[in-house]
Amino acid sequence: AAPVQAAHSGAGPTVVAHRGASAYAPENTLAAVDKAAELGIRWVENDVQRTRDGELVVLHDDSLKRTTDVEEVFPGRAPWKVKDFTAAEIARLDAGSWFGDAYAGARVPTLEQFLNRVEHHHQKLLLEIKNPQLYPGIERQTLKVLANEGWLDRRHLSGRLIVQSFSADSVRAVHELKPAVKTGFLGTPPLSALPAYAAFTDQINPHHGSLSVGYVSAVQAFTGPHGGPMEVFTWTVDDADTARQVAAYGVDGIITNRPDVIRDAVRPA
Ligand code: G3P
Ligand code: CA
Repeated sequence: AAPVQAAHSGAGPTVVAHRGASAYAPENTLAAVDKAAELGIRWVENDVQRTRDGELVVLHDDSLKRTTDVEEVFPGRAPWKVKDFTAAEIARLDAGSWFGDAYAGARVPTLEQFLNRVEHHHQKLLLEIKNPQLYPGIERQTLKVLANEGWLDRRHLSGRLIVQSFSADSVRAVHELKPAVKTGFLGTPPLSALPAYAAFTDQINPHHGSLSVGYVSAVQAFTGPHGGPMEVFTWTVDDADTARQVAAYGVDGIITNRPDVIRDAVRPA
């Protein structure tokens, strides 16, 4: 496959707004994308799942309970799993009031809506396929939506899109279905497993608590499926000291709810 542009520009680690700028606006909503754009943040992360009638929507938990008013709107439908609701039902929910009155009426976006808002701001997307074991075939479907929305053209594939998952099977499926897409694995595989991961993932993206300078440089010594060094994006780092520490380890990216704070902490003087 053709080489893809490194997400890491050389001007400090890439800063990724986790679920959008989710310290300041309700996570995984269009408002959180807008907030990241307002802060000048170029990369946004999100979580993709599937409704009962097969629509891809952007939500973190497998249940709608924590981040919407689903308990009030559909009181008899516990435990309010995303997979048990239709897209039309989910579109009725308020996904903003739990966060603050200023966001009342924010919706759970479809993947199409989310992609279009990210594109509108000329941002880049770290897309997580969430809970893929619940949604057979979600990798193929996600790639289809990305293609339909213009996200698999040369411009997007050369540095505007990464697809990641906690499931190695899911990451491998994305790579095999569409080898040109840059991919990331969420987790900390043992060093002995890295040669196998390097066949299908460009990134190893660990929780910051499991990082060390040795681990970061060991990952980066491998060549990923697109011919560049494998990268490390770490999550979820919200304080400046930790950000400076992982930057000193040499990470390529930091995923954070407070992207303005972390950008200022790691920006070269
Ligand atoms: O992108 C990394 C991070 O989002 C993984 O954890 O639970 O927030 O999806 P989680
Ligand atoms: Ca995520």
